[in-house]
Amino acid sequence: MNTIIAANWKSHKNREDAKKFWDEIIVQKEMLKTSSVEVLLCPPFSLLSDAIDAVRVHALPISIGAQNVSSFPEGAYTGEIAATQLAGLATHVIIGHSERRDYLQESEHLIEMKIKQAKDAGLTVILCVQDKDATVYEGVDIVAYEPVHAIGTGTPDDPLHVQETLEALFSRYPNVRFLYGGSVNPDTIQQFLAIKHISGFLVGGASLEASSFMELIGICNTKK
Ligand code: PGA
Repeated sequence: MNTIIAANWKSHKNREDAKKFWDEIIVQKEMLKTSSVEVLLCPPFSLLSDAIDAVRVHALPISIGAQNVSSFPEGAYTGEIAATQLAGLATHVIIGHSERRDYLQESEHLIEMKIKQAKDAGLTVILCVQDKDATVYEGVDIVAYEPVHAIGTGTPDDPLHVQETLEALFSRYPNVRFLYGGSVNPDTIQQFLAIKHISGFLVGGASLEASSFMELIGICNTKK
């Protein structure tokens, strides 16, 4: 299967910043079109429709995802975005990122509810987990193993530890795909490419610049 490079922009960029990013990507669109890498970009909600326009107008082979979804259906839930509202915009959704678990106190119960909503709306669910003992709920398509100590620190997890963790998760959940995330950049990615069960990467910081993002796609494209 093709390698996945998934960008998690977190709460970064305004419309002007994002336009600059897309302008740079568009210049290199031929490289994307000939690549076998599955590219997914998850901007903040505020930039979803601009991302969809860029992808559509320039026929970019990039899927668009969201970084969060409501645990409730459509209704009187001020500030929430329901899975059914996302479904026409995004194909994927990230659920349970450690930043949401930490800063917004997202519980396992809430995460389970979000997964159900997302699945019912036909979205592909990427669940972020922090260790080998994590519970992967029914409906999850992709698991992103992202140890907290490796996120945004510049120091990724030890590849051997990633391998052990993915082996343990795979033994319990053999039907999902696995990503590794945490300080993945063009200098660190190489050591993870050969790890069994890795289907790709969830990338934060290095996905914000078109140059490093494209570099990661280029590196993964050489992996067969
Ligand atoms: P990072 O973030 O690549 O900046 O470490 C990854 C993530 O949190 O998804």
